[in-house]
Amino acid sequence: MHLLILVTLLWLSLDYLVQTDLKKKNCSIIINDLKPSDSGSYQFRVINKTKGGFTFLRKANVNVTYLQQKPTVQVPPLTEGHKASLTCIAPGLCSGSKPIITWTWRKAGEKDLPNITTATTDRLTAVNHRHMSTLELSPSAELHRAHLTCIVTFIKNLSREKTVRLNVTYVKNIEVFGNTAVQEGDSLNLTCSVKSFPPSQLMWFGPNRTSLNVSESTDLRSASLLIYNMTQAQSGQYMCEGVHLNTSQTRHINISVIYMRKPVVSGATNVEEGGVLNLTCTVDSFPPSTVTLQRDENVVNDSIVNQSNTVVINNVTQEDVGQYVCTAQSRNKTQTSHVEVKLIWKPHILNSSGCVFSEEVLKCVCITQASPVPTVTWPLLQDQTEYKLVTVVTGDTINSSFVLKGTNHNRTEIQCVAKNRAGQVQKSFTPSIITQTGNRHGM
Ligand SMILES: *[C@@H]1O[C@H](CO)[C@@H](O)[C@H](O)[C@H]1NC(C)=O
Ligand SMILES: *[C@@H]1O[C@H](CO)[C@@H](O)[C@H](O)[C@H]1NC(C)=O
Ligand SMILES: *[C@@H]1O[C@H](CO)[C@@H](O)[C@H](O)[C@H]1NC(C)=O
Ligand SMILES: *[C@@H]1O[C@H](CO)[C@@H](O)[C@H](O)[C@H]1NC(C)=O
Ligand SMILES: *[C@@H]1O[C@H](CO)[C@@H](O)[C@H](O)[C@H]1NC(C)=O
Ligand SMILES: *[C@@H]1O[C@H](CO)[C@@H](O)[C@H](O)[C@H]1NC(C)=O
Ligand SMILES: *[C@@H]1O[C@H](CO)[C@@H](O)[C@H](O)[C@H]1NC(C)=O
Ligand SMILES: *[C@@H]1O[C@H](CO)[C@@H](O)[C@H](O)[C@H]1NC(C)=O
Ligand SMILES: *[C@@H]1O[C@H](CO)[C@@H](O)[C@H](O)[C@H]1NC(C)=O
Ligand SMILES: *[C@@H]1O[C@H](CO)[C@@H](O)[C@H](O)[C@H]1NC(C)=O
Ligand SMILES: *[C@@H]1O[C@H](CO)[C@@H](O)[C@H](O)[C@H]1NC(C)=O
Ligand SMILES: *[C@@H]1O[C@H](CO)[C@@H](O)[C@H](O)[C@H]1NC(C)=O
Repeated sequence: MHLLILVTLLWLSLDYLVQTDLKKKNCSIIINDLKPSDSGSYQFRVINKTKGGFTFLRKANVNVTYLQQKPTVQVPPLTEGHKASLTCIAPGLCSGSKPIITWTWRKAGEKDLPNITTATTDRLTAVNHRHMSTLELSPSAELHRAHLTCIVTFIKNLSREKTVRLNVTYVKNIEVFGNTAVQEGDSLNLTCSVKSFPPSQLMWFGPNRTSLNVSESTDLRSASLLIYNMTQAQSGQYMCEGVHLNTSQTRHINISVIYMRKPVVSGATNVEEGGVLNLTCTVDSFPPSTVTLQRDENVVNDSIVNQSNTVVINNVTQEDVGQYVCTAQSRNKTQTSHVEVKLIWKPHILNSSGCVFSEEVLKCVCITQASPVPTVTWPLLQDQTEYKLVTVVTGDTINSSFVLKGTNHNRTEIQCVAKNRAGQVQKSFTPSIITQTGNRHGM
């Protein structure tokens, strides 16, 4: 901001710095800190005390306007944690008054930074001076997008400023939000986010590093993973990876699927009297369930065990049989399974069984009891055709009877065979013979 007028003789005005070198026939004037009021016509006048003064007719018109140029702010690439120097250069190359250079920040509600006022001057030539200020900065993520202004104040009321918006390269730690335990059939909804500039590229991986589709937020700061209808097989370790420039960071997260299968009771439910009852109830669930195995409402095995429970009874009696209930409980969910335990025993043939032969008709009845219900057979009937067999089952009792016509059956030994999976018994009957007179003959 200076005006240099070159003329070949002496300048008249003494208000300004005048450089004279008559021998070189060169006379220059430098006017510093020009103001609009300095505008006007300038003329050169030479004075010789003896000869008097002489004014040159040629006029130099000077039009001083307000400064138009702004300061120049030089910002190197900024990276969090790496010191950097920012430079503000005053407009123009002036030899006038040294300007005041001030840095100010504008960042709502955030870290207050002090105003910095420092200035240095590079004397490029006698008349060309570059005024500048250097700001030493330790950039932080908070300074990203902050407005930094450099204000250059020359003489009072005359200042020019330049505002720049800072970009700070930074990356914060990756974060994952969402429920890590989901009920089977529900949706898994996880969001991975990382604050960084420039934005990171976010990716989700499932167990075994299977790549998963994600929906990215519009500001690229987060990636949401949404899997509908989760199954138990989809539990495992998931991973979110964020790639920022040349570095990447990962976050692992264990996803558990909460499920419970129906309890399964294993072991023989048909037990011989005096034998061993060995029942086990198992449930597949996450988290592990507590399992009880009881007969009816009575606690048989009062110990509550994780995932499975066993009931063992040696020398089983009638009292030990009935319905057994397995109850599995996990969190607030309960499931039950029932089994019916039955005693099995060999058939026995009751004494009320027997045969009667009367009027050439043989009538036999065989009453047996067993569990499970036995099958009753009469070997005699194998090669007979004319008979009538009746079988009546009442609970554990089976009543098998037949009527056979013929004269040759009065002396025969007649066998009743009762059989179930516990064993087989047989009994022989000799028919009582009832005569027409009503006399009864023993066997
Ligand atoms: C006159 O002097 C000024 C200032 O010293 C210089 O910049 C300029 O070149 C000189 N002009 C001539 C014609 O020598
Ligand atoms: C003024 O002019 C006279 C006559 O030309 C000359 O002798 C004298 O040196 C001049 N004075 C100055 C100060 O130059
Ligand atoms: C000075 O320059 C300004 C802008 O170029 C112009 O508008 C104005 O008329 C000029 N004044 C004179 C006195 O030449
Ligand atoms: C920094 O300078 C600005 C503009 O001159 C001013 O408004 C602000 O109050 C100053 N802040 C401090 C802390 O000095
Ligand atoms: C800051 O980053 C934005 C967005 O990436 C870009 O448009 C802008 O040019 C950058 N500014 C500077 C000063 O580098
Ligand atoms: C996933 O969770 C985010 C926030 O955690 C929520 O805004 C979004 O609506 C959820 N999406 C679904 C489909 O539930
Ligand atoms: C992961 O790999 C293991 C072993 O190869 C396999 O058993 C399992 O099913 C896989 N899990 C998924 C979710 O693909
Ligand atoms: C959820 O997945 C299971 C097993 O793949 C399937 O049987 C069931 O129909 C699915 N339910 C819905 C609502 O998609
Ligand atoms: C009960 O049955 C299980 C599985 O069949 C067997 O491992 C266990 O030894 C049995 N316990 C008794 C006391 O018989
Ligand atoms: C089995 O139980 C019955 C009835 O309680 C008893 O008489 C018998 O001695 C028991 N047998 C054994 C081997 O414990
Ligand atoms: C079981 O508890 C979970 C939370 O622990 C809840 O979301 C769910 O609704 C509950 N289910 C029932 C049937 O109460
Ligand atoms: C058996 O029947 C036959 C023929 O009816 C008869 O001869 C015989 O005496 C009978 N035996 C007895 C012991 O009644």
